Amino acid sequence: MHVAVFGAGYVGLVTGTCFAEMGNDVTICDVDEARVAMLRQGRIPIYEPGLEEILGRNLENDRVRFTTDARQAIAASEVIFIAVGTPADEDGSADLTHVLDVARVIGRHADGPRIVVNKSTVPVGTAAKVQAALAEVSPHAFSVVSNPEFLKEGSALEDFMKPDRVVVGASDERARETMRRLYAPFVRTGNPIYFMDVASAEMTKYAANAMLATRITFMNEIANLCERVGANVDEVRIGIGSDRRIGPAFLFPGVGFGGSCFPKDVQALERLADEVGYEFPIVRAVHSVNEAQKRLLAVKIRRRFGDDLSGRRIAVWGIAFKPRTDDIREAPALVLIEDLLEAGAEVVAYDPEAMDNARRVLGDRVTFADSAHDALEGADALVVVTEWNEFRFPDFERISKALKEPVVFDGRNVYDPRAMADMGFDYHSIGRPGRSTAA
Ligand SMILES: NC(=O)c1ccc[n+]([C@@H]2O[C@H](COP(=O)([O-])OP(=O)(O)OC[C@H]3O[C@@H](n4cnc5c(N)ncnc54)[C@H](O)[C@@H]3O)[C@@H](O)[C@H]2O)c1
Repeated sequence: MHVAVFGAGYVGLVTGTCFAEMGNDVTICDVDEARVAMLRQGRIPIYEPGLEEILGRNLENDRVRFTTDARQAIAASEVIFIAVGTPADEDGSADLTHVLDVARVIGRHADGPRIVVNKSTVPVGTAAKVQAALAEVSPHAFSVVSNPEFLKEGSALEDFMKPDRVVVGASDERARETMRRLYAPFVRTGNPIYFMDVASAEMTKYAANAMLATRITFMNEIANLCERVGANVDEVRIGIGSDRRIGPAFLFPGVGFGGSCFPKDVQALERLADEVGYEFPIVRAVHSVNEAQKRLLAVKIRRRFGDDLSGRRIAVWGIAFKPRTDDIREAPALVLIEDLLEAGAEVVAYDPEAMDNARRVLGDRVTFADSAHDALEGADALVVVTEWNEFRFPDFERISKALKEPVVFDGRNVYDPRAMADMGFDYHSIGRPGRSTAA
């Protein structure tokens, strides 16, 4: 099948590459010329495990190509995916500028009917807006399909190749049949493809992300309460996760969720509810509790060292919003770092993949270390914000020697409080007893 994908970001790149891998002929179009030039050489502008290899293979076989020329992308394609960004607008609603720009470009260049698939995360009613934008500039008939994406950065290829489910909102049989054919190789092992109406597909994506964000936030609140009543959130997590109605996933407390999806999608759902006059206090609470949670480590650090952190050097491990990505959008580490800088601290940061992105945002206000251990030299404390695997079993003796005092703040509960106490660390984590050597 001839497929065009608009947007060569995390979603567009993975979508286009995976469709090419299944033998389709794919053209990926992006407005960012530098990005397209880089991709043509087989270099990817993001960190996503495995992507460069599979993209290289498909570039070599000429099953995927990159362009900035929308006309060329549209000309040969039966199905056109929109996978551009939908950032939060000033009021928190989803900014549809890029999506509607692409719709108009498709309308202008398509020489006949096409199936236009919206993969960007968009509020209910967007398919109708895309349809209207197409109709404004084109006499042809378009089927507009909603096909929300559920991949996770860091395991995007695996998620796309073996999805838990594929959701397709479509109102005509031809579009449904095309989507069925396109996704057939990905659901071969029996994972479902759900066809539904367009509005329900659009809502499914927001409902999924808001549910997951709520779950994390709920556990963060339980963890905060555990700290105050002397319970251990690790035990509580296991105690509730074994209930089949609850399940064990997504129950790990931490320093709040970040990334390019949950924060903006929770807010967009809140705005969507506002627009139809529906009070949705849960999503409002999720947003505000999460904002507070991002500040929790800074509060703990100031509690330990005092409000004025001038003269203190703090080492931060992990800047990306989660491991196995270079994405720092809405990352809790950025909030922590800003709080520490504001309190006068000197910050030395290290992340295995997100340093370039972090440098662009933080500039020279932060020192970037060449390795995790380099970051520790002469620091008053180590703060772990992102649980990259390489931070899981560090050389604690080396950490202890490098730090001025053995003080560790663990925002992801990576280490065992008892073991940390035994090694002489003053160890602070989330929702667990075990502030070891301190009172
Ligand atoms: N990143 C994720 O993990 C993820 C997961 C599921 C869904 N989503 C959703 O998918 C959408 C895309 O997210 P992303 O993270 O891939 O975004 P991204 O910011 O990584 O990439 C978006 C790309 O679109 C390009 N673009 C903007 N306007 C364009 C235009 N008019 N024509 C062609 N290209 C254009 C940009 O240059 C950029 O390369 C968003 O709606 C997001 O919410 C993201």
